[in-house]
Amino acid sequence: MTIASTLPPSTATAAQQFEIRPVEGPLGAEITGLDLQLPVSGQDLARIRAALVKHGLLVFREQRITPQQHVAFSRRFGPLQVHVLNRFHLQGYPEILIVSNVVQDGQPIGLVDAGADWHSDLSYMPKPSLGSLLHAQELPAEQGDTSFANMFLAYETLPADVKRTLEGRCAVHSYVYRYRRLQKLSPWRADLTQKQIDEVPEVEHPVIRVHPESGRKALFVSEGFTSHIVGLPKDESDALLRYLHEHTIRPENVYRHRWRAHDMVFWDNRSTVHYAPITPQHLRRTLYRTTVEGDVPA
Ligand code: SIN
Repeated sequence: MTIASTLPPSTATAAQQFEIRPVEGPLGAEITGLDLQLPVSGQDLARIRAALVKHGLLVFREQRITPQQHVAFSRRFGPLQVHVLNRFHLQGYPEILIVSNVVQDGQPIGLVDAGADWHSDLSYMPKPSLGSLLHAQELPAEQGDTSFANMFLAYETLPADVKRTLEGRCAVHSYVYRYRRLQKLSPWRADLTQKQIDEVPEVEHPVIRVHPESGRKALFVSEGFTSHIVGLPKDESDALLRYLHEHTIRPENVYRHRWRAHDMVFWDNRSTVHYAPITPQHLRRTLYRTTVEGDVPA
């Protein structure tokens, strides 16, 4: 008997052979050759995490994973956040939010307007999301794209005087602010209950945040959730937020994702904002989303 054969079989997870290729544009990379149905080693996880920070968004192609595998993979990056709209949780998986335009028996099965304006997911929480993982379930043959803007570049390309104006300032992020605005577009949005309102009190975050993993500065306001900049008169705050929004979504700062079957897209909410217009109801579109909790922005 050799010494090697007396050793217990290795329990270490083998690394997978996969490629990370940047996509054309200001952010994003595509991962091919990785199967999220298989265990992901610590080494592979570190590669994925570094790529997320570097590229802001990762497209994992051909992921035929179950909701359980989706949740398990997401958890490797941190605790998961449970969305306040509990009626759109996937049954048995409160960590999964259904994003969908499908109506069954007269009721929407998911959040149809989750991406109806530019935002960073859960920026209204004291610890906003590190990242979201959105997995395609059913896709339309046309439309249904999701666009992402690079908030590092948005900050870095601001004129020096605007950077000076923003330095040290905070802005208020509010779930209720966005909800009430979207209520005007979406008839299914019943008034929030008091319990739901209490779960998402508005918060203040720095307008310019430092990415906790790269140290790079990013703009951290959005059309969706930022109601105002603290300490500025309302008209000045509105005008500045409008300017920052238009600056952020200049075409050269945006990557538009055309979904393919079984795509899983993982984006960094600390350095991107995203937008997906409502897809008309006859073009069925359903995706499952998890969100990973991040740090208190600094
Ligand atoms: C979202 O904002 O999380 C949803 C994006 C999408 O529908 O593509």
